[in-house]
Amino acid sequence: MIPIIAEIEQVKQSFIAALDSATTGKELDEIRNAFMSRQGEIARLMALLKTLSLEEKRQAGPVLHELRAYAEAALDKKYQQNEQAGLQALACREQSFDVTALRYHDKRGSLHIYSQIIEKLEDIFISMGYTVVEGPEVETEFYNFDALNIPKNHPARDAHDTFWLTIPSLLLRTHTSAVQIHTLEKREFPLAICAPGRVYRNEATDASHNFMFTQIEGLFIDKNVSMANLIATVQTFLQAVFEKKDLKVRARPSYFPFVEPGIEIDCSCPFCIAGCSICKKTKWIELMGAGLVHPNVLKSCGIDEQVYSGFAFGLGIDRLAMMKYGINDIRLFQSPKIGFLEQF
Ligand code: PHE
Repeated sequence: MIPIIAEIEQVKQSFIAALDSATTGKELDEIRNAFMSRQGEIARLMALLKTLSLEEKRQAGPVLHELRAYAEAALDKKYQQNEQAGLQALACREQSFDVTALRYHDKRGSLHIYSQIIEKLEDIFISMGYTVVEGPEVETEFYNFDALNIPKNHPARDAHDTFWLTIPSLLLRTHTSAVQIHTLEKREFPLAICAPGRVYRNEATDASHNFMFTQIEGLFIDKNVSMANLIATVQTFLQAVFEKKDLKVRARPSYFPFVEPGIEIDCSCPFCIAGCSICKKTKWIELMGAGLVHPNVLKSCGIDEQVYSGFAFGLGIDRLAMMKYGINDIRLFQSPKIGFLEQF
């Protein structure tokens, strides 16, 4: 057999193999290009054929023409099949197309910055043996004020600009201290709880005030609880919050009707050594209100104030987040700005 005939057979086999494995129109185009174009395999064989003797041409010519006819027909057929399969797949997709299907891989949600910080604070409280509790956001005057030693007409009420509901005596809680009362009513001691949640104040908003924000309350009740216990607990808690073992705290006298003595607690600025814009160059940061639970509060919950004592403290989560992330407008936390929210 003359060599070109074996070569034609080889080209045919590789054409068949390529066609068999092709599944897309693009692959078919590539095959057509490789075999049928002017630079293709068949053209190359044609050119080769021209260089051969008359006798060889007579033998190989018909074989090569047969290959070309075969290849053209096979390729055409495969193009048609491919088109049919595409149309069928499209029809099938259109039939079962679900306009309500969510493309949830496009955008992923993330936990709100409040949730992230609350989770972290809760973990710290839990590590200290505290339990997480929640109270209602719609409160009664009793839980938000009266039981906390803030009777009607007490000037301290004016400091809380309250959202009153149209139903008498109902309001949106102005602080998480209301949860203290729900917990104390259970009278199970020793008692150690933290209570995170939203609070509301009917005041004008600006970059550092919002009508809704978030607090976390800590409450501990047992026998012989002292101011030293409060300071030590808060220091341990804040050292964990800011992940700084040498964080210091200091107390300044203050007034909250539900604690006696009442204090405000500052911590040494965890962001600098020599003074920065966050601590306003004072090296201290005001963080929370605190104090020993007022005997009147214990009494209003039916607890013997001669036997039990305790401490409470409350801090704002928004301020904590603003300091940590350098956020300059408290209103951003409630805004629907995805660009802001997805940073966390
Ligand atoms: N409830 C107080 C506030 O919202 C904070 C506080 C809590 C103070 C517990 C003392 C004890 O400002």
